[in-house]
Amino acid sequence: MDNLSHLLTKNKAWADQIQKQTPDFFRTLSTQQAPEYLWIGCADSRVPANEIVNLLPGELFVHRNVANLVKHVDMNCLSVLQYAIDVLRVKHIIVCGHYGCGGVRAAIDDRPHGLVDNWIRSVRDIYLKNREVFAALPSDEEKINRLCEMNVISQVYNVCQTTVVQEAWKRGQELAVHGWIYALENGLIKDLEVRISTNEEIDKLEFK
Ligand code: CO
Repeated sequence: MDNLSHLLTKNKAWADQIQKQTPDFFRTLSTQQAPEYLWIGCADSRVPANEIVNLLPGELFVHRNVANLVKHVDMNCLSVLQYAIDVLRVKHIIVCGHYGCGGVRAAIDDRPHGLVDNWIRSVRDIYLKNREVFAALPSDEEKINRLCEMNVISQVYNVCQTTVVQEAWKRGQELAVHGWIYALENGLIKDLEVRISTNEEIDKLEFK
């Protein structure tokens, strides 16, 4: 059976290269992490968090799942949020979606996709609640991409409403939540300009 030796070889070359450039890099990192950012993104292999913002190991705390969703019953995501905010004390949470997201696409086509349909059901709900927005868009591609943007904004709202974020703000901890979207075609991130750092600002969000 394939033991994936090509990946282990790549790993060795990568570690050697970093070690050569910065001899103390791994030793220092092994004793502490102090990232300033939590990234909540899609599991899509084409949207690798650290690489697209050019950050090194140790600089970005990361949670990824299909269609970058934040749900109040997801202990995995909520535990990541809690550790990032209460222990690492990150200053920024970035929800980063991407155009052409397969999870978002699947949420609005009418074919069954199995188990994942339950996970992405909330994205379909955003679509159904905002039918008039989509009716005005001429192509399926534009509809999907608009829904990708709306989904990011909706997840920013969800992050802000978690008990962890609410408690952080209540005790005066500095913490901002951002909504970004990445384009697979050119590698560029667009800021959706929904930077929320207080409860008052949440009211400005569309697509809750
Ligand atoms: Co995706």
